[in-house]
Amino acid sequence: MTGSARQIIAAFKEMFHTKPATFFSPGRINLIGEHIDYNDGFVMPAAIDKGIWFAIAANNTDRVHVYSADEKEHLDISLQEIKKADGWKNYILGIIYELQQRNADIHGFDAVFGGNLPIGAGLSSSAAVECGLGFALNAVFGLDILRIDIALAGQKAEHNFPGVKCGIMDQFANMMGKKDHVLLLDCDSLEYELLPLKLTDHSIILINSKVHHALTGGGYNERRQQCEEGLHLLQKKYPSAKTFRDITPEQVLAVKENIPIDVYNRCLYATQEIQRTQLAAQLLKQNKLKEFGDLMFATHEGLSKLYDVSCEELDFLVDEAKRFKEVIGARLMGGGFGGCTINIIENNLLEKITSSITENYKTKFGIDAEIYLMHLEDGTHEICG
Ligand code: GLA
Repeated sequence: MTGSARQIIAAFKEMFHTKPATFFSPGRINLIGEHIDYNDGFVMPAAIDKGIWFAIAANNTDRVHVYSADEKEHLDISLQEIKKADGWKNYILGIIYELQQRNADIHGFDAVFGGNLPIGAGLSSSAAVECGLGFALNAVFGLDILRIDIALAGQKAEHNFPGVKCGIMDQFANMMGKKDHVLLLDCDSLEYELLPLKLTDHSIILINSKVHHALTGGGYNERRQQCEEGLHLLQKKYPSAKTFRDITPEQVLAVKENIPIDVYNRCLYATQEIQRTQLAAQLLKQNKLKEFGDLMFATHEGLSKLYDVSCEELDFLVDEAKRFKEVIGARLMGGGFGGCTINIIENNLLEKITSSITENYKTKFGIDAEIYLMHLEDGTHEICG
């Protein structure tokens, strides 16, 4: 058991004087397929070994008492009064609310949670809280809810409480992730494949720009709206197209003059990224890592120039990474507007490359970027207490 898990269990015992059940809920990375989960595309996420631990036990009352070990704050509320609040409490309240809407028989409980997932770094700490608690409640109260339904409830919680109209990628990866595998998820049908990730000479490295990424700011929902508007306009020209998947970048190009430029850019990116991710999946299956990496660079270009969700700091980190031929792919990861870049780097030059990038970043922006070496983990699961 990790140090973090031990601390969460110890904090629980000290606060509530009973023995809890304990769960690990992972963050996620995404190799490719960004901002297309809500555009009926394909994505390639994986659950990681950084995450959140929940220690939890029923308390035989109708009250919920949750302590956030990271924020050092309490939430104490009756199950009859679950409604929107703010900050981290919204993720807890949101998932309880969504499970209640599904008539789940939840009773009062005590919980302590916290972990080692950097907040606002684009690693989906929000899905980890929503789905982690959903899974824990499912186990503690024997609710019999399927993993996929916990993921969908988590997504609904995110829509209705913090108000981010996210796709399904983060919650899906949190629930369905598998150690040493990435998921290839069809976001239209929710069918998926588990692809083994066999990197022998390379590592997946995240570089945290430390520019705070907050999707509650409005830019994320605006992108989603622009895509909806764009699809609607495109369907006038291409009536048989049901989703972006049925439209090619060339077809978007053909109607450039009839669509507002921002909307056009978003649609062009969405259709390109859907094609890119399908190609990337084939390349990964053939272990053609170099070609896969080229697609990651192309995704970054699209996210920066067409989708407009990058920032100066993320562009700088990717440009720096590009200087080394041993970095076979790099791009901003997740929602954007800050957070991390994901990089695939040759092992023998890992130290040298990451030091050079972080030093130059510090000189340019005065910020100490953080480096995380990624290991792929199982989705949310119970651990022995
Ligand atoms: C956030 C959302 C996801 C997805 C990514 C961008 O992480 O929660 O649903 O849209 O941004 O790919």
